[in-house]
Amino acid sequence: MLHFLWDSISFHTLLIFLIVFLFVADYMKNRNPKNFPPTPLRLPFLGHIYMMDFKAPHITVQKYTEKYGDIFGMSMGSMKFVVVNGMRLVKEVLVNQGDNFLDRPEIPMDMFSKIGLISSSGHLWKAQRRFTLSTLRNFGLGKRSVEERIQEECRFLVDAFKDEQGNPFDPQFTLTNAVSNVICSLTLGNRFDYQDEDFQKLLKLMHEIVFLQGAITTQLYNSFPSIMKFLPGAHQTISKNWKSLKSYMEEQINKHKEDWNPSESRDYIDSYLQEIAKDKGSDTFREEHLVACTLDLMFAGTETTSSTLRWALLFMALHPEIQARVQAEIDAVIGQARQPVLEDRNNMPYTNAVIHEVQRKANIVPFSMPRMAEKDTMVDGFFIPKGTVLTINITSVMFDKSEWETPDTFNPGHFLKDGKFWKRESFLAFSVGKRACLGEVLARSELFLFFTSLLQKFTFQAPLDTTLSLQPLMGITMAPQPYKICAVPQ
Ligand code: HEM
Ligand SMILES: *[C@@H]1O[C@H](CO)[C@@H](O)[C@H](O)[C@H]1NC(C)=O
Repeated sequence: MLHFLWDSISFHTLLIFLIVFLFVADYMKNRNPKNFPPTPLRLPFLGHIYMMDFKAPHITVQKYTEKYGDIFGMSMGSMKFVVVNGMRLVKEVLVNQGDNFLDRPEIPMDMFSKIGLISSSGHLWKAQRRFTLSTLRNFGLGKRSVEERIQEECRFLVDAFKDEQGNPFDPQFTLTNAVSNVICSLTLGNRFDYQDEDFQKLLKLMHEIVFLQGAITTQLYNSFPSIMKFLPGAHQTISKNWKSLKSYMEEQINKHKEDWNPSESRDYIDSYLQEIAKDKGSDTFREEHLVACTLDLMFAGTETTSSTLRWALLFMALHPEIQARVQAEIDAVIGQARQPVLEDRNNMPYTNAVIHEVQRKANIVPFSMPRMAEKDTMVDGFFIPKGTVLTINITSVMFDKSEWETPDTFNPGHFLKDGKFWKRESFLAFSVGKRACLGEVLARSELFLFFTSLLQKFTFQAPLDTTLSLQPLMGITMAPQPYKICAVPQ
């Protein structure tokens, strides 16, 4: 009897002690240092999860910016970060003090933490990025230029749209195929037929990974990985898909090695293999890193560009007068007899402005990818210790009332001055600084060539009795909801 009593007391004591210990440890771990940016009241263990609305995470925190200012702290489970708002501070963090914020944090739901292009840091990142940029700039990509590869794809895309004969159809499938083919051509050396089954499988795996990032179970996995890894949910599908993609890429690399000619490079994989051969024994260029870099290019380059094109067609159907002005400019500068070339862009300020306004208004990357402080830094009088994760609120700049005349209206005039194209500093679709989008030049080339090729041949209209919606779908990027549209031949 006595023995039993003692046992139960000690069990209770132990339990209470354990709980108190966990609370204290949680408090100590999350205590902010002196002068840290203001942080709303934090719940033990859960952090600020109560502040988030998973359906529209970019909107709900509004009241907190009003209360706490342009820079404030937040945490989600064990992930803690500082949010930066407004042009002045965004520029301070990405440009003026940019060198202190070039690293990326480790995110649990990320297959290639620390390697590749998107998630690597330090010396490894610098070497991969420099190599990739110079390779994409056409050194070492063989005889066909990037522009030619995009133009070839434009012809296939226009033909596929023609096949719809002006009837309502969902353009998502074909646009994603076309955009992804450009990256495939650059990295793997070939494009795929739109009907190719393996290609369809590949795109489906990638699409799921992108859109399941917005799922609640994925967010919870990022905040509480050690618990969530035992539970079912979207995060399990994501890791399964990553594994399939990785083995597909390894297969492709092996094929390249079989018919590899060291004196001639057909694509990015060939060039990278050359670099591995040159760099023997070093850890920088390795096959494992090649797999990560190639998949990173596919990921960063597909959904972003194809969603932007889908927004563009939506905006054209909703603003027929703007669409007509773009077509008039195409007729005047290019005509109907030849394909658009990149050089045309210099003579087409209106079309260029429309594409920029599509990107501003669509705002497909509302928060830039997270950065991490490489060393202790002061920002706007606040102390940001080494290792702090920063999130840049791109929306706060692209919709800033003091920067844009009519921020909430689709208005190509935002990018025009005296009839000329006006480059705006507060256009941040690709972010800024040394770690801004690596594919910016490629993406802008694709957007211009695909968009003008389509508007040269078709007029886009809502199907009869249909209202097109501008409500976005949240994933890693903000894409339009699936829609049907008519591409009426000119
Ligand atoms: C409309 C299309 C695109 C948009 C809006 C876009 C936007 C962005 C943004 C906002 C970032 C984060 C930059 C930062 O951390 O500050 C980024 C990174 C990146 N983008 Fe893009 N991107 C687009 C197309 C592409 C394409 C076509 C490629 C393919 C080459 C690409 C490759 C990358 C890579 C590799 C990174 C990571 C760079 C690094 O961490 O060093 N992007 N992009
Ligand atoms: C980001 O900026 C938008 C627009 O200014 C604002 O409504 C939103 O609350 C901001 N989000 C965060 C997390 O700061």
